[in-house]
Amino acid sequence: MPPVRVLIDEATLAARIRDLAAELRRRAPEPPYPCMVLEGARPFARELCRALALDPEACDRVRLSSYADGTESSGKVRLLEAPRGDLRGRRVVVLEDIVDTGRSMAFLRPRLEALGAASVEVWTLLDKPSRRVVDVRLDGVGFEIPDRFVVGFGLDLGGRFRDLPYVGVVDGGEAAAALARPGAGA
Ligand code: IMP
Ligand code: MG
Repeated sequence: MPPVRVLIDEATLAARIRDLAAELRRRAPEPPYPCMVLEGARPFARELCRALALDPEACDRVRLSSYADGTESSGKVRLLEAPRGDLRGRRVVVLEDIVDTGRSMAFLRPRLEALGAASVEVWTLLDKPSRRVVDVRLDGVGFEIPDRFVVGFGLDLGGRFRDLPYVGVVDGGEAAAALARPGAGA
């Protein structure tokens, strides 16, 4: 296993997610309809729902594929799993682990709007603004981070490190290889 350096520890994550929950409540009077992006946003969604006193089981979900034809530059995103619930008239709050190029969220927002959502907000735990390729509006950001490949708290590197309770940076060439690999992360 390559070494992982802690970037954001557990207590800092927990405190910031509580802040985001409070901000989400303040932002609009409508109750949020949370919808997480599988797989990586699970821990974020669980903690945020808990802070909002919502049942984490009631959190809807979507699954996206990244870059179906195998080249990151093509940027083709597909919806592999649609939300299960009825979005019509709801204040849909998308919960994402990290916004990188912006392609996934730029793709998802109009699709959820097309399902009849009254509004679609994107709340992401992490944001790497320096990597943005597509302009996308973010309604809530937990932490802005530099252009480093991060793992833990739901984020993986080839299926590993998802269960770490903190967000960390993988040292060494392995992270660079992962970034070069098409469709890495989900
Ligand atoms: P996008 O480039 O903004 O469309 O982000 C697509 C997805 O890539 C994110 O939702 C993550 O699942 C994944 N991703 C981007 N950066 C990282 C990272 O540093 N670690 C793990 N996954 C990442
Ligand atoms: Mg994601």
